[in-house]
Amino acid sequence: MNVVQEENARLRWVTLNSTEATVDEGATIIQGLQQTPKTLPCQYFYDDRGSQLFEQICDLPEYYPTRTEQAILETYAPEIAQLTGACELVELGSGSSRKTRLLLEAYSQANEHLQYCPIDVSAGILKTTALELLRQYPKLKLCGLAGTYEQALDQLPPAEMENRMLIFLGSTIGNLNQRECDRFLKQVQTALKPGEFFLLGVDLQKDPAILEAAYNDAQGVTAAFNLNILSHLNWRFQSNFDLDRFKHWAFYNPVDHQIEMHLRSLETQTVALKTLGFDTTLQAGESIHTEISRKFHLPTLVETLETFALQPLQVWTDPNHWFGLLLCQRQCISDECP
Ligand code: AVJ
Repeated sequence: MNVVQEENARLRWVTLNSTEATVDEGATIIQGLQQTPKTLPCQYFYDDRGSQLFEQICDLPEYYPTRTEQAILETYAPEIAQLTGACELVELGSGSSRKTRLLLEAYSQANEHLQYCPIDVSAGILKTTALELLRQYPKLKLCGLAGTYEQALDQLPPAEMENRMLIFLGSTIGNLNQRECDRFLKQVQTALKPGEFFLLGVDLQKDPAILEAAYNDAQGVTAAFNLNILSHLNWRFQSNFDLDRFKHWAFYNPVDHQIEMHLRSLETQTVALKTLGFDTTLQAGESIHTEISRKFHLPTLVETLETFALQPLQVWTDPNHWFGLLLCQRQCISDECP
């Protein structure tokens, strides 16, 4: 782990080391493109441009999750601060931290010590946000981590405070399939000590028409976001994806309760990923699967969390029941507690 103390005494940067699981990102990409259907890991959406596009998505009239979750947090942030008491906030996929500000506000109103650790794969947005937050909150101490969730949960820096709350908002957990999700929750269970907290935001099952509109916005921002994954690969691996030869395609899969995003090849074409020494051919009409966004059923999710010793203390939703926010507490298991 590489820690850099900035000029500003309230800010530290941690760059995470690659773990065995992440050391060969090239191999993961090749493997995905050799599957049928072809897939790409959705973390590649988030280069600096991708993070900006995602911020734009959050403001789209069709994309209800951000503003719905924001409204829930606006109402319940003070209650969350009261339920947890003083604790260090560690956020996975913090992005612009716009919703986290509501929590920072609540903890500072409650006169709690403010310690925040944002984690994001996009170092650019992490840095901009950190500097802005330090200006906004004169007492805030910040520790930015650039890396994936997997790396971060494996290598969390030692806690600065007695208690921690791990925060995972925006229904980003929906990007993980069942198997990945179980693995992730196991990591959360391990990263937290008994008594610590996990705050989770999830998008809920609803009318497919509402879901499909949210991923097929009229302005085409989601399409640009989806296509941008190819630009990211182009600079990262010197590949030659031609964005004009692909089309955004998103639909609701009612069997698996998930939105699927794909990029459909408009013609038969071969693409080279130069630094990986790998070529792939796409047939006309063939698609690359770029993202799943699962939509949850609250009672089932509560059961799943419980199997990972994460006990929901409170479950909040909006009046339409479109989005859920769960405050969980890590329980003792076997011989952990007297
Ligand atoms: C931030 C991953 C939760 O799945 O809704 C938005 C990303 N993709 N529009 C989501 C996204 C297309 C978003 N997450």
